[in-house]
Amino acid sequence: MNKIAIMGAMPEEVAPILEKLGEYKTTEYAGNKYYEATYNGVELVVAYSKIGKVFSTLTATTMIEHFACDVLLFSGVAGGINPSLKIGDLIVATKLSQHDLDITAFGHPMGYVPEGSVFVETDKDLLALSKEVANELGKTVVEGVIATGDQFVHDEKIKANIVKHFNADALEMEGGSVAVVCNALNVPFFILRAISDTADTDASFSFDEFMESSAIISAEFIMKMVDKVISK
Ligand code: ADE
Repeated sequence: MNKIAIMGAMPEEVAPILEKLGEYKTTEYAGNKYYEATYNGVELVVAYSKIGKVFSTLTATTMIEHFACDVLLFSGVAGGINPSLKIGDLIVATKLSQHDLDITAFGHPMGYVPEGSVFVETDKDLLALSKEVANELGKTVVEGVIATGDQFVHDEKIKANIVKHFNADALEMEGGSVAVVCNALNVPFFILRAISDTADTDASFSFDEFMESSAIISAEFIMKMVDKVISK
């Protein structure tokens, strides 16, 4: 039986999930709060990490190593790169990279360090389950590459550079690091994002306006994924 980790980066990304749980137990650990609940007979651990690769690494590792979660679902918002992605649209990562990991000075490709890889691939079974959920809900979910970095991108040139190196469809600040953790610890993971902005000069305004509504769209889909994982 699975113990399911559900992660976001910001409080707004996990609030709609906590609302659905009813009762939960709060545990403080390593500077974060972890919310434990039983949902339809299965144990869930929910947490927001705080923004960025370091905090999300800490939280993903904690959920797996301390709370013994054996599958991890991430829900949140992203900046859209693929022009087909509009505000509120959902993207699920097929693979993720770290767009700010740069030792190109030594002849390596962007996103690569020795003994690592440029991309980490999402669990195929969870991707297949998400297709079933999307079909059942009649929702379009784009599958694509997500690039992660410790930077809120609001610049066309930076966006273009991320496309050049990673052919990314969306960007955010946690998925790539969570993917590295889950891959290293052999825990299947799934990264879902709803678009809050398009990482252009207006991105911060768009983010402020749409982050909460997009976070809800993502959280609603993630809870259907939870139902699906439980039913398998
Ligand atoms: N998350 C949502 N929008 C983002 C952006 N423009 N850059 C980085 N992370 C984001």
